[in-house]
Amino acid sequence: MFKNFKSVERTVYGRGAFNQLDEIIGAKRRKSGDFAVFLLDSVFQNHPLANRVPLHDEDLLVFVDVNAHEPTTELIDGLVNMVKAHAGRPIAVAGIGGGSLMDSAKAVSLMLTNPGSSVDYQGWDLVKKPGVFHIGIPTIAGTGAEVSRTAVLTGPTRKLGLNSDYTIFDQIVLDPELLAGVPKEQRFYTGMDCYIHSVESLVGHFLNPFSGAYGEKSLDMCVDVFMNPNLDRTDADDQLMVASYLGGLSLTYSRVGACHALSYGLSYVHGTKHGYANCLVFNHLQDFYPEGVETFKKMMQVQGIELPQNLSANWTDDELSRMADISMGMEILWEHAIGLDWKKKFGKEEIISYFKKL
Ligand SMILES: [Fe+2]
Repeated sequence: MFKNFKSVERTVYGRGAFNQLDEIIGAKRRKSGDFAVFLLDSVFQNHPLANRVPLHDEDLLVFVDVNAHEPTTELIDGLVNMVKAHAGRPIAVAGIGGGSLMDSAKAVSLMLTNPGSSVDYQGWDLVKKPGVFHIGIPTIAGTGAEVSRTAVLTGPTRKLGLNSDYTIFDQIVLDPELLAGVPKEQRFYTGMDCYIHSVESLVGHFLNPFSGAYGEKSLDMCVDVFMNPNLDRTDADDQLMVASYLGGLSLTYSRVGACHALSYGLSYVHGTKHGYANCLVFNHLQDFYPEGVETFKKMMQVQGIELPQNLSANWTDDELSRMADISMGMEILWEHAIGLDWKKKFGKEEIISYFKKL
C-alpha cells in the first residue's frame, strides 16, 4: 500500500501576502455571530504584527506562549475551552508564529470538532472528524509544520503528534516579510530543522523519487541560504520559506531519521526546543550522515554559530535511560534510518552512546 498523500489545499506565497488574510477569512464569514480565532505567538505582544491581525469585533485574538515549552495537551485543551466559552465554534482558526504555533492552531482546530481531550488523539489517524477551517501563517521558516500532517504535542506520558489527514492546514499564507525580525541563532536552528528534514529523508530505506525531488531542492536552497555570501537577507528569507515548505513535503512521503528519533528523546526529558535539539544531535551523527554533517559544520562556521559541548556530563543514568526509551519508541524513524530489521543492529545501549557524545 502506498501512502495517499494529502497536501495543503491552498497556498499564498509572496512578500506582503499577510495582507490577504482578511479576504481569505472573509470568504468564510456568512452570518452575524460568525467569528474567527487568531492564535498569535506571545513574542508578538506589543509588536506591530499584532496590530496587523485583521480582527473583526466578534473575533478572538489569543497570545499563546510556546517559548518556554513546546505546546502541551493541557495548553490545547485550555485554548479549546477558551474558544468554546467565547462563542462556540468559530468559522476559522489562524495560527501565526513558529512551528509550535502552527501545531497549536492545527490541534485547536481539530479539538473544536472532536470530543474529549487532545491526549486521546496523540497517535496516527485517531482523529475522526475534520477540524474547523484552519490557516497557518509561519513567522519563522524551517519546521515544515505549515505542510505537515501532524500537530506535535507533549502529553502526560509522551511527546506525540495528532497525526491525521484532517490535521493538514486548509490554507497557508507564506509571507517571507514576516521572517525579517527573527534573531540569528533562532533562524539558524529552525533553518537547520529544514536542512535536517531534507538530509534525513534523502538517506534511508523509504527514499523514493517523489520525496527525493522535494528533498533535493530543499537541501540546495538551505545550503544556499546559509552559505552563499552573495545572498542578502531578503533574498535568503524568500528562499528559506520555500525550502521549509519543500523540506516538509519531502519527509511526508519519506521519513525523518536518526536525528529526529534522538532529538525527540532529548526534548522530552530536558524540554529542549526542537530545532536546537536537532542541531545538538546532528552535530554528532557523522556515522549516519557523513556529508550532511560536514556541510552542517561548515554552515555553522559561516553563520558564526557555536554549540555547547559536554551537556551529557550533567545527565543522570536515569535521564539517559528515559531519553533512550523515548527515542527507541520512534520505530518508524529507525526503520527508515537503519532498515526494517534495525532492532537486530541497534538498541538502547547504542542510543545512549550517542546521547553521551552531546
Ligand atoms: Fe523537525
